[in-house]
Amino acid sequence: MNQVLENILTRRSTRAFKNEQLKDEEVEVIVKAGLHAPSGMNRQTWQFTVVQNPETIEELAKVIRKLLNKNESYNFYGAPTLVMVSNDIDNTNGLADSSCALENMFLMANSLNIGSCWINQLKTICDNEEVRCILNSLEIPQNHIVWGIAALGYKATENNKENKITGVVKYFK
Ligand SMILES: Cc1cc2nc3c(=O)[nH]c(=O)nc-3n(C[C@H](O)[C@H](O)[C@H](O)COP(=O)(O)O)c2cc1C
Repeated sequence: MNQVLENILTRRSTRAFKNEQLKDEEVEVIVKAGLHAPSGMNRQTWQFTVVQNPETIEELAKVIRKLLNKNESYNFYGAPTLVMVSNDIDNTNGLADSSCALENMFLMANSLNIGSCWINQLKTICDNEEVRCILNSLEIPQNHIVWGIAALGYKATENNKENKITGVVKYFK
């Protein structure tokens, strides 16, 4: 099978990570894949913020738990690395661009047998004072929204290989 298609077909979200940090070169090549995603008008107004400090990750999880009423177990599935993809709020393609970058990173991770999952919770609460304070400490610009987070790490369990595909495709020839 074509290797790109095989990589796409075998990627699944990982929701249980080992408590073991990724190698720097693995994270770097995953972020590189994100940086090479397409962006509307090639603006590239995104920022990729890699967070590996366990205290900062817990601080983020804690504020999300509080603001979004998540239960005590909410911890980004124990991922040791978070790549926060933020973008300029005034860029109308910010979410689309960030999504392209996230999928590039998920596919790169999959090609290295590294687990990944999109974490969606921050986008609606970026302007909460406590959240913004953490984002400031991570040097995420004030005018940025965190559209998505790539939770990354070695898989604690093998992913469920099957995904029932329900999307509609129509051809008009
Ligand atoms: C926009 C978007 C937001 C998502 N948010 C979350 C999330 O917050 N937590 C989570 O566990 N998975 C999240 N996911 C992952 C989806 O649940 C997952 O991709 C989908 O169920 C298909 O499964 P697969 O990724 O294993 O193919 C999100 C995916 C997308 C595209």
